[in-house]
Amino acid sequence: MKNAVEVIQREQLKEKPTESLGFGQHFTDYMFVMDYSVDKGWHNAVIQPYQNIEISPSAQVLHYGQAVFEGMKAYRQGESIVLFRPEENFKRMNRSNARLNIPEVDGECLLEALKQLVALEKDWIPEGEGESLYIRPFVIATEPHLGVHAALEYKFMIILSPVGAYYGDEQLMPTRIYVEDEYVRAVRGGVGFAKAAGNYAASLAAQTRASELGYQQVLWLDGVEQRYIEEVGSMNIFFVIDGKVVTPELNGSILPGITRKSIIQLAEHLGYEVEERRISIEEVLDSEHISEIFGTGTAAVLSPVGFIKYKEREIKISGGQTGSITQHLYDQYTGIQAGTIPDPFGWRVE
Ligand code: COI
Repeated sequence: MKNAVEVIQREQLKEKPTESLGFGQHFTDYMFVMDYSVDKGWHNAVIQPYQNIEISPSAQVLHYGQAVFEGMKAYRQGESIVLFRPEENFKRMNRSNARLNIPEVDGECLLEALKQLVALEKDWIPEGEGESLYIRPFVIATEPHLGVHAALEYKFMIILSPVGAYYGDEQLMPTRIYVEDEYVRAVRGGVGFAKAAGNYAASLAAQTRASELGYQQVLWLDGVEQRYIEEVGSMNIFFVIDGKVVTPELNGSILPGITRKSIIQLAEHLGYEVEERRISIEEVLDSEHISEIFGTGTAAVLSPVGFIKYKEREIKISGGQTGSITQHLYDQYTGIQAGTIPDPFGWRVE
């Protein structure tokens, strides 16, 4: 895959969306696909029209859930296309692959293929405030076999979706969070640190219950004592405690978010004191020192938390508004992504 990937052209390009984009509802004209077999390794890399794929009803992913994914974004600035820390995503994908016994992918080659795909689709990169092209690389086990073992065949794909804000229409709308006290998301030694599709399936019953009660996301507690904060549905979580930026330390069951890592670096660079440590739910509920809470993720970027509900109690954070440190970090972070603020970290990849 050293050379450019072969492109199978489509006969007709799709209509681009004209209404508000939402998140993950529209898909571009092309997708990248490659196959894995034991004798050939990864092969058949091709950029082809975005279309349904055919897999056997006995494909192992449908039964045993061997599937991992990634999420990243591309931005357009005039004629240039900017990716944001894409090499981090391929590294994380390989950590997820290793945990789910999926063969390693070649991150460097895939980055070149991704650049080719995104360049082909540059007219799909939206340029409105808070908009970007969401990139979804993923791997599934396709071997048709009902025996439980690491599959011998896989498909790796990249699909692209022009997106706006993850929650509603506004990027910085404070969210309402429900602390889950029955189910847990992940345990140490499990797959919590991997971006395994099954982690998201495991979150849905709690997510549905939270939505029925009027909350947008679930806040997960640790799987042993159900006491320490882990992460929110599709985000990592940060607290401003006595002016310090504090986030749960990575412990094997928390997803090592790339936005999480970037916000830690950015906050330190901006002069905030940052702590990665255990934070209990009691500390959150009873502290008079917590002034702001926000979530971070590629899809959601930085999302303020306005309300937290735990058992019978609901607390309001920052008066239900976006706090000043959250706003500061959001402005700096999105400014670096959009190229309106210099990138001192070398995060932007053209
Ligand atoms: C992301 O932030 O990219 C995610 O993967 C979260 C979600 C849309 C599942």
